[in-house]
Amino acid sequence: MARITAGIATSHVPAIGAAFDQGRTQEPYWKPVFDAYEWTKDFQRREDPDVVILAYNDHASALMLDVVPTFALGMAEEFEPADEGWGKRPVPTVMGDPVLAAHLAEQLVIDEFDLTLMNDMAVDHGLTVPLSLMFGKCEEWPVRVIPLAVNVTQFPTPSAERCWQLGAAIRDAVESYPAGLKVQVWGTGGMSHQLQGERAGLINPEFDNAFLDKLSEGTDELRRITRLEFLREAGTEGIELIMWLIMRAALGESVEELNRFYHVPASNTAVGHIVLRPAG
Ligand code: DHB
Ligand code: FE
Repeated sequence: MARITAGIATSHVPAIGAAFDQGRTQEPYWKPVFDAYEWTKDFQRREDPDVVILAYNDHASALMLDVVPTFALGMAEEFEPADEGWGKRPVPTVMGDPVLAAHLAEQLVIDEFDLTLMNDMAVDHGLTVPLSLMFGKCEEWPVRVIPLAVNVTQFPTPSAERCWQLGAAIRDAVESYPAGLKVQVWGTGGMSHQLQGERAGLINPEFDNAFLDKLSEGTDELRRITRLEFLREAGTEGIELIMWLIMRAALGESVEELNRFYHVPASNTAVGHIVLRPAG
């Protein structure tokens, strides 16, 4: 039987990817950010997961405004890094797991999630920057990845509660998969940030730290955060935190917190990172 062995969340700031690709990780501005992920890179070497179900959002790289799926599951054998306007990131092609993805699709539709199934999809910084942070420079990524792209770019975006329910359904689906795989669930995006408008540059450490606390304890409160509250407290792009709720719900009732990091700012964004283990 497959098992969910850990949940990981991180911000996915594109400038972190650029600093990584250009070998600027030891510059004073970036060093504290990259140093913080060393613990997790060691953890991943020890854990050696087989598959990551990676909840992120596309930033109009693969999913333009002509089609806006609420939840899009990546079914393909492989996913190319997207060209976001300055060429593809120099990182490996992301290898999928079409058999597990088909099982997830079937179980999640039975559980009444009307997914969009993506047989071809490029993956942008929302997915590849976290891979670089967790695994460093690689010839090949050491895991298979099933992308789960969540709409946070066009209203109506899914509610916190809906994301929670999806995470819980992912847990059930993984546990009903016969192969003995070690599966991690990741959520990327956030924390507080606003990239445009009058409040551009907004960062709210109080909200972010309370959010981090509640991932360990206080999950009922997380499920009740409204989209308006995300917008007001965490800025227009703070809504990306709903992907973290998919990750957290996939871990079940209680968790052990293994690692946590919070840093402001990187680019325009509050960078947060947490590693959780399902308890019991
Ligand atoms: C920034 C952060 C993001 O999450 C993103 O998707 C794009 C830009 C930023 O801080 O610049
Ligand atoms: Fe983003």
